[in-house]
Amino acid sequence: MRHAPPSWTLHPQNRSDVDITDVDTLDRVVKHLNPDVLVNCAAYTNVDGAESEQQSAHSANTIGVKHLAQVTAKYGVALVHISTDFVFDGCSTQPYTETSSPKPLSVYGQSKWQGEQQIQLHNPNHLIVRTAWLYGDDGHTFPQKLMQWAKQGDVRVANDQTGSPTYAPHLVNGISECLQHGARGIIHLAGSGAVTRYDWAKALFRSLQLDVAVKPVPSSTFVTAAKRPAYSVLESIHPSGVRLPDWNQGLSDFTNHLAKSRK
Ligand SMILES: NC(=O)c1ccc[n+]([C@@H]2O[C@H](COP(=O)([O-])OP(=O)(O)OC[C@H]3O[C@@H](n4cnc5c(N)ncnc54)[C@H](OP(=O)(O)O)[C@@H]3O)[C@@H](O)[C@H]2O)c1
Repeated sequence: MRHAPPSWTLHPQNRSDVDITDVDTLDRVVKHLNPDVLVNCAAYTNVDGAESEQQSAHSANTIGVKHLAQVTAKYGVALVHISTDFVFDGCSTQPYTETSSPKPLSVYGQSKWQGEQQIQLHNPNHLIVRTAWLYGDDGHTFPQKLMQWAKQGDVRVANDQTGSPTYAPHLVNGISECLQHGARGIIHLAGSGAVTRYDWAKALFRSLQLDVAVKPVPSSTFVTAAKRPAYSVLESIHPSGVRLPDWNQGLSDFTNHLAKSRK
């Protein structure tokens, strides 16, 4: 699997290195590292928490991102920023492209969309990467939750939410390709195709060769503080031509990686 080209030097920074809401530290770090590109993965991502912690979401996802745009512009650094399918309201029945109009349903979605606007305002040398239903080999993302629920013998999954599951290493490759192409503007990078959460769950267990009963339920079964888009399939018409593999391929790569790591 191809990640960043070997000629690139990566300088990963965590929150204790630089809090994006602290503009002075951010300025010092960017000046010191003097990168060609800054890729921002930092965000307030507690979608339900944001409904009651609006200030925290706004602070990281809008103000912090504004700082990033201003500081990168000041030092002539390209800014790549990760955004989300939650900028859309999910009322469409057709995939959302880069030209579709955002209309967030939640505080989180609104704060992320405002972050996008701050970038457009302050650093023209940017790439805003909207992704969706992100999961990876580590962490506690949807596939890991499904496997945990299977152990507990109760797997109920919404059959009225449709999206584009995105395997994180595919996103890394997509961003890397964008950088090689010098892509700019807004791009949708999510697993190609569309699937309901319920069908995705069934596909995961099939791929793991596990006989798990998955019960389809309406999303209203799960009471959540934030509204989520019912349909947030992302498609790209970006001229760079960069597209991610099908969501099925993502699942297959994920389960293969899991099998290898268990050997
Ligand atoms: N997960 C998804 O399904 C999904 C879908 C679409 C788009 N996205 C986007 O993808 C990106 C990554 O999401 P993720 O799910 O990987 O999120 P995550 O696991 O919550 O990671 C976010 C990271 O940002 C850090 N952070 C938060 N506030 C910060 C600040 N003020 N300064 C510096 N770092 C800060 C967090 O640090 P702490 O751990 O210390 O808080 C955490 O390490 C986000 O932009 C998100 O909006 C995610």
